Amino acid sequence: MLMETSESTPRPPGLDIRALLQEHQGRNYELHAQHVNPSNVKTLKTIGFDHCYVRGEGPYLWDVAGTKYLDMLSGYGVFGLGRNHPEVRRVLSDFLATEYPSLVKMEAPLLSGLLAAELKKRMPNTLDMVFFANSGAEGVEAAIKYAKCATGRAAVVYCKKAYHGLTYGALSVNGDESFRSGFEPYLPECRMIDFNDLDALERELRRGDVAAFVIEPIQGKGVFLGTPEFLIGAQKLCRKHGAVFIDDEVQSGMGRTGKFLAIEHAGPEADPDIVVLSKTLSGGFVPVAAVLCKRWIHDKVFSSMQRSVVHSSTFSQGNFAMAAGLAALDVLDRHQLIANAERMGNRLGEGLRAMMPRFEFMKEVRWRGLMLGIEFGSPRSLTLKTAWSICHGLDKSLFPQACVMPLMNKHHIITQVAGHAIDVVKLIPPFVIGEPDVKWFLDAFEDVMVGMHKFPGPAWDVITDIGKAALTNRAR
Ligand SMILES: Cc1ncc(COP(=O)(O)O)c(C=O)c1O
Repeated sequence: MLMETSESTPRPPGLDIRALLQEHQGRNYELHAQHVNPSNVKTLKTIGFDHCYVRGEGPYLWDVAGTKYLDMLSGYGVFGLGRNHPEVRRVLSDFLATEYPSLVKMEAPLLSGLLAAELKKRMPNTLDMVFFANSGAEGVEAAIKYAKCATGRAAVVYCKKAYHGLTYGALSVNGDESFRSGFEPYLPECRMIDFNDLDALERELRRGDVAAFVIEPIQGKGVFLGTPEFLIGAQKLCRKHGAVFIDDEVQSGMGRTGKFLAIEHAGPEADPDIVVLSKTLSGGFVPVAAVLCKRWIHDKVFSSMQRSVVHSSTFSQGNFAMAAGLAALDVLDRHQLIANAERMGNRLGEGLRAMMPRFEFMKEVRWRGLMLGIEFGSPRSLTLKTAWSICHGLDKSLFPQACVMPLMNKHHIITQVAGHAIDVVKLIPPFVIGEPDVKWFLDAFEDVMVGMHKFPGPAWDVITDIGKAALTNRAR
């Protein structure tokens, strides 16, 4: 039987997604508690993030009640172009209308060839070959496999607080125990060094067994910036000792930091052997990752006709993802979004830095383009020190929630704590934000800081209650 959408147009048979969304509107948390992840539901409810969003456009979201939110998290960095970019949408619907075949597999698809060529053009150095994957972690897995195969070596060196995804290879080079715990054993011979510690890297490389050094030029967990000396020095050391330098730009790439790759901030000598991209490359629509590498690496991996698909994945090079990637690059260029990311990032960073003399809890503001970290530190005055100690005594990850929660509850701005046991709030908004959004954020942040600098005060009551509840939970 045909369902009616309006009196004049009969609906064709099949799932009516609009009706489904309407019928179940508001049931998100009930369904997730029952079927998906009850612990996550509990966390979201505890920190007041249990909203039901029903619309997204640019850097904004709207919930079921019509409240508008400023999204400074952008789906962990996926929505570099903002949500539902009209031009990417048009490309995707045009593509669907062509009925073009995808994933034939025993063929060389046109669009992945075109996207590979477009990506190569944007690299600061010569990278010859491109592999397409479906997520950042999958891209990192490919990079690790390539490095091992190309060098014939086993070891991988990575940095403390590194985040490269949560599949087994990527988890083996994750520098945060809270992600690793419970999943041992990892890939053998993965060795951790401090971020920005060139001597430690050299010590590891001298052992002669290192296949790769994998690094985020700007670490997502904590927003720590790699120094140019470290990044260029590491690259040179890798070359000297025969190891592959893997530049993980899954989060920092595609223009987020004001340059196409964050490693370009290290200067014209930036010359990674492998670059991994994802997130914004999706246009915010279709999961995708790209692994760009030098020819000698590619030639070692795909060394014969027999090995021509030795690394592959069913959904690799899906045309819908390739179309989204091409559209994303086009939007980035034509709207000069990389320059906007740099401009808006500087506005935000400088605005935040200007507040530091007034607010004792603010220790440092770090940024490159629209990848910003606001670090809190122990204050000078005795009363505020009490708030700091109580919070850290209850839970090492609690303090920045005192900022993230009122930003959400009072000012309708979505931000996140930048990692476990790190006193940093992170901002990775879409590159399309403008001056009014910067003002929205800075005014809100200032108001939240005023509240946090009154102790005792209402800002602290909620936080200490959450901390106590977490303690009781752990004791059970
Ligand atoms: C630097 C970096 N590498 C890899 C990943 C993993 O990407 P995915 O979550 O798509 O697997 C992330 C995700 O946040 C990331 O930030």
